[in-house]
Amino acid sequence: MRAGGQTTREQALRQIEGGHADAVVVGRAHIANPDLVERWQGGHPENEPRPELFYGPSAEGYTDYPVLEAA
Ligand SMILES: Cc1cc2nc3c(=O)[nH]c(=O)nc-3n(C[C@H](O)[C@H](O)[C@H](O)COP(=O)(O)O)c2cc1C
Repeated sequence: MRAGGQTTREQALRQIEGGHADAVVVGRAHIANPDLVERWQGGHPENEPRPELFYGPSAEGYTDYPVLEAA
């Protein structure tokens, strides 16, 4: 969708609300936040992705990011 930095909630909202897209594909933010939908819905802070673990040989960096604490 865009070159350079990671797709953000604000950019995704702008695309949808501006009628420029029907859907926005999110990569890195979703890898780092297994509960990204809930985080974006509630405007919660996000885990930062660890790019040094992208394309790695194991599940590390894919399945070990924490979800939001239950309230
Ligand atoms: C670790 C990693 C793996 C990816 N694997 C795929 C893939 O298998 N197929 C694909 O179409 N895009 C893949 N992508 C690209 C993402 O789908 C997305 O286009 C890219 O990360 C840009 O979106 P973002 O700014 O939300 O991260 C991958 C990206 C990353 C960081």
